[in-house]
Amino acid sequence: MVKAKKKLTKTVTVERLEVEVRRHNQLYFVEHAPEISDEAFDRLVEELRRRRPDSPVLRELVSDVRPAGARVVHTTPMLSLDKCYDDETLTSWVEKFAGDVIATPKIDGCAVSLRYDDQGTLTVGATRGNGLEGEEITSNIRFIKAIPQSIILKNVEVRGEIYMPLSVFARYRETFANPRNLTAGAIKLKDAKKTADYDLAFFAYDLLGSASATEEEKRKLLERSGFPVIEGKVASREQLHDLFSSFFKRRDEHDFETDGVVFRANRVEEQNRLGSTAHHPRYAIAYKFQGDSGVTTLIDVEWSVSRTGAITPVGIVEPVELSGASVRRASLHNVGLMKKLGVTKGAKVLMMRRGGVIPNLESVVEPGKGTIEIPKQCPSCGSSTELRDDFLYCTNAKNCLKSKVGELSHFVKTVEIDGFGDKLLGRLYEAGVVTDVAELYDLTVDELLRMERMGDVLAAKLIKNIDDRRQIPLDVFLRSFGIRELGKHASKILAGLGSLEKIRTLTEEDLSAIHTIGPVIAREVVGGLKRKKRLIEKLLKRVTVVHATERAQHAVPLQGKSFLFTGTLLSMERKKAEKLVEEKGGTVAQSVTKDLDYLVVGDGGGAGSKLGKAQSIQGKGGCVKIINENKFLEMTSTAV
Ligand code: IVH
Repeated sequence: MVKAKKKLTKTVTVERLEVEVRRHNQLYFVEHAPEISDEAFDRLVEELRRRRPDSPVLRELVSDVRPAGARVVHTTPMLSLDKCYDDETLTSWVEKFAGDVIATPKIDGCAVSLRYDDQGTLTVGATRGNGLEGEEITSNIRFIKAIPQSIILKNVEVRGEIYMPLSVFARYRETFANPRNLTAGAIKLKDAKKTADYDLAFFAYDLLGSASATEEEKRKLLERSGFPVIEGKVASREQLHDLFSSFFKRRDEHDFETDGVVFRANRVEEQNRLGSTAHHPRYAIAYKFQGDSGVTTLIDVEWSVSRTGAITPVGIVEPVELSGASVRRASLHNVGLMKKLGVTKGAKVLMMRRGGVIPNLESVVEPGKGTIEIPKQCPSCGSSTELRDDFLYCTNAKNCLKSKVGELSHFVKTVEIDGFGDKLLGRLYEAGVVTDVAELYDLTVDELLRMERMGDVLAAKLIKNIDDRRQIPLDVFLRSFGIRELGKHASKILAGLGSLEKIRTLTEEDLSAIHTIGPVIAREVVGGLKRKKRLIEKLLKRVTVVHATERAQHAVPLQGKSFLFTGTLLSMERKKAEKLVEEKGGTVAQSVTKDLDYLVVGDGGGAGSKLGKAQSIQGKGGCVKIINENKFLEMTSTAV
């Protein structure tokens, strides 16, 4: 076997070996689609090293595991940016040089320097570090798809920002404070391959070593070399304020955190003339967005359990308006951070939507009185918890999330809230947005939009579906908690006994005395309703339970009336509409006759001959009423 392999490599020429090594290197590091195993690749490399030790191809290879802490001295310092918060400072800045200005969104990521050699091959990637000296992260960079490994430009250095798109950060939001910290960790991982797992992205914003006369020219070169280049607008000095306003308005539209706008002199000559201080270049300035913030009261801390079993503290606050959205909760990320913040119940806290996007509890302004207990039992499944470093975990993670999603799912199915599948419920739960069934009723479009694969139309529809179920028949309400033995049969019997308040006072003996309800059902039901006491109270603040007697009254308007549908219904499927008629005490007719009470014409068109027939009956003095969908919904909405 070993012999055969040796023979195989000996038969190929060194040139061919070089081609193969380069190809597999590309497949592995750039396309992340290796065709051969790591060992097979290593064997090829070793063979090449043995037969042509000075092969240039070997120089292009970088090992996966980087020696920790290797330092890189920057060719020119990676400086910070001067900051400003008002138009006056910006105006006095722009007066110092001639020509246009280029504006780009400031990306809240990690600055990196990428050096390309005389072949245009990426040789060194480094972090900013202290500005003079950074950390070598070349191997990690090879696992960031957006960064080209070889480019058309020779002997240049590209600078830009590695960041985690917000759509990716959604996966980590509950346990990490912000995408930047996570990115900083991900690009320095010892096992460079793991960097790929974080789906990091990159924007180039500077090119060193080209003869470009303007920033615009540099951007074109970068684009042609295959770099994603941050959007930029060139404008005259008179337009600066409008430019800032337009970036500010669109700050929520980016898939990255942005905390301001970077303005730079467009002409390189002017940049050189102005030069730099030890801290920042004089030709650039960052006009920072004021994070929209507000002080509110921390009501409580709830604990949300993720698929991994991490239990995250979520701060529940008095609703506060930030960047046009009402915010009432913010992840406190982990127990360590929560302790550091020093949160207490009733504390006045500063909330901020950083970069206009993720609401964050920044600090405690004034402590409150109530202490916050770290749960000893998992709030989802009741198993014991354990604290590892800064993180609290459920010791039974495997079954935990499933059971919680199961609970939510049972509720939406029972109450018939459409559109909430297990995946969505799982995501909402993991994000700490919906931790019990009552919180479904607090959901906002804004919160839904932060979930993966969610658009405006769907989000609005889901909220409507919830709102349509704010009145729940008593028997459905009783069944919705998934209490054992409290199924269709028992809940109907209970609902017939009177109000919810009355049912909740019944004892096991009272229930056992009822025909068809034995002692087992009685025990489960009484015990279950007690266990769910807090949840029931919480839910009752958000929904109205329609008692049996009310239902009967509400049903009266459709009682004895016949309905027929024609055309396409837009608000619901025809089957559902027919079911609704029956639920409200009406009947569904088969055809248009003089005995028909209502012909409902769908808003989607295609009414056809039924409409013609009904009109002709009307013409002959018949009493059939022709109504549209809205009218129909109005007639049914009083009776849920
Ligand atoms: S231009 C000083 N453009 O922000 C060099 N920099 O807080 C000017 N940054 O060190 C580079 N977004 O790493 C530029 N659109 C953008 C940027 C940007 C983020 C970084 C840059 C700088 C840091 C200062």
